[in-house]
Amino acid sequence: MIELMAEGGTMLTGGPAPEQVHLQFGPDAASQIAVSWAARAPVARPRLRFSQASVGSVSEVQATERGYTEALTGETVYSYHARIGSLEPDTCYGYEIVHDGAPPVAGTFRTGPRGRSAGFRFTSFGDQSIPAPVGAGLGPNSPNAGYVVDAVEALDPLFHLVNGDLCYGNCSDQPVATWASYFANITRSARFRPWMPALGNHENEAGNGPQGYLSYLTRFELPGNGTPVFAGNWYAFTVGAVLIVSLNNDDVCLQDAGFSSHRRDHVPDYEADGVDPYIRGYSRGQQRRWLERVLAAASQSDEIDWIVVCMHHVAMSTAHFNGADLGIRQNWLPLFEAYGVDLVLAGHEHHFERTFPVRGTLPGSALLTPAPQGGDRAEMDTRHGTVHMTIGGGGHPYNAPGQLRHGPGEGIVITSVGDGDPQHQRQAHLTVEPAPWSAYSDERPAFGFAALDVNPAERDGTTTIAVTYYRADPGCADYRPHDQFVLRKPARSYPAGEWVGDLCRPGAVRGDGRHRA
Ligand SMILES: [Fe+2]
Ligand SMILES: [Fe+2]
Repeated sequence: MIELMAEGGTMLTGGPAPEQVHLQFGPDAASQIAVSWAARAPVARPRLRFSQASVGSVSEVQATERGYTEALTGETVYSYHARIGSLEPDTCYGYEIVHDGAPPVAGTFRTGPRGRSAGFRFTSFGDQSIPAPVGAGLGPNSPNAGYVVDAVEALDPLFHLVNGDLCYGNCSDQPVATWASYFANITRSARFRPWMPALGNHENEAGNGPQGYLSYLTRFELPGNGTPVFAGNWYAFTVGAVLIVSLNNDDVCLQDAGFSSHRRDHVPDYEADGVDPYIRGYSRGQQRRWLERVLAAASQSDEIDWIVVCMHHVAMSTAHFNGADLGIRQNWLPLFEAYGVDLVLAGHEHHFERTFPVRGTLPGSALLTPAPQGGDRAEMDTRHGTVHMTIGGGGHPYNAPGQLRHGPGEGIVITSVGDGDPQHQRQAHLTVEPAPWSAYSDERPAFGFAALDVNPAERDGTTTIAVTYYRADPGCADYRPHDQFVLRKPARSYPAGEWVGDLCRPGAVRGDGRHRA
């Protein structure tokens, strides 16, 4: 850990302390990271000191300040972001956040491996909420929203993917306190490893910026996408031979899922200011064109073996909840298919489900029902299609049996929405479809997350992602392996000489090892 004393050799106090500390990778996880935090008031000289754990010299970078004023309550939020580049791959660093007049706050991070030099683990879930009520308790909360942080941390992943619907601030009468509760809850993990998010419909806080995303965008420092006006809305980063792509599905989904009657009724001048939470098509195709460029480049790169998409709404669902959105099938699935996306991680449906590899559609399907390729539930070759996972049990206290809408084994699809306007939510029109694509669906009310272990080079020339879904009962902190499967395919190219991608390599993947099949 960095040895730090405030100027003059004594610890200064009296200023607002750094809080809500969390990390994000830059576009290259092997060399770039950002440290972010909040403070209750503007601070003087925000900066970050860091060093390799095994090297004595300390470097310092200045942080930038961003802020916004919450439309509902008038509170102003201040966040700080320090970007670091030129780091060594697969290396541990210690850091300290420093303000004038406040004790430093410390953390650590580990950079990603370079190329196929080492395996790594990442974790994923969506729809977390917060562990206890804030304000009038309008937003969702559950003890499991806290327990899941400890369960993730116990597996020591290199990073964590958040598949949208983070804290449900748009449901709350106290959205700033809701965000503070969210980061206070996750910082015991996110201070030590990046939690990389995707925007969900509940990040749309009507009145906070053109898409309602100002809370999210102020608090996260994410890789760029080449379009400054939409910076942070979608992005990509590379870890080893894996490309992770984070999408914003509100841009393409039919469902009017960002609507909040509380914000409609309580944000001052909501109607006079022309606030509209229905933002489908807001990027005017810019996100889709960016996605096609990124996927096309990755599909041609010998450096990339796996393409993983993190997004919120789902392309397929048998859950008794929202349903799959036809807008995703129309806009994203043709690109996923054309450029060989291997795995999609989503949320929005507050349960766990996974599919067989899908490619094309069932013959004559007006719903664009994806066609399964193969029926092996335990091991799948993603050269044949894209596997989709819904991991929506991060913590939202969902109770599926009370919302049954269709028969067992059927898929449900949102095909259109009814009339609406900024003051009245558009109702989704639903229909059912056969669901031969579903490999496993767990509709029991439960909380869970997935751990994914990437092995870049096995001895037979293949690369694998071994997936374990951990589940806990409501109110229970004991997350146990519930479902396991493996994605396997030939690596694009192989490291010269000795195979080095063994997951058992000391330090490559830590944890209790229970996940390994
Ligand atoms: Fe959700
Ligand atoms: Fe959602």
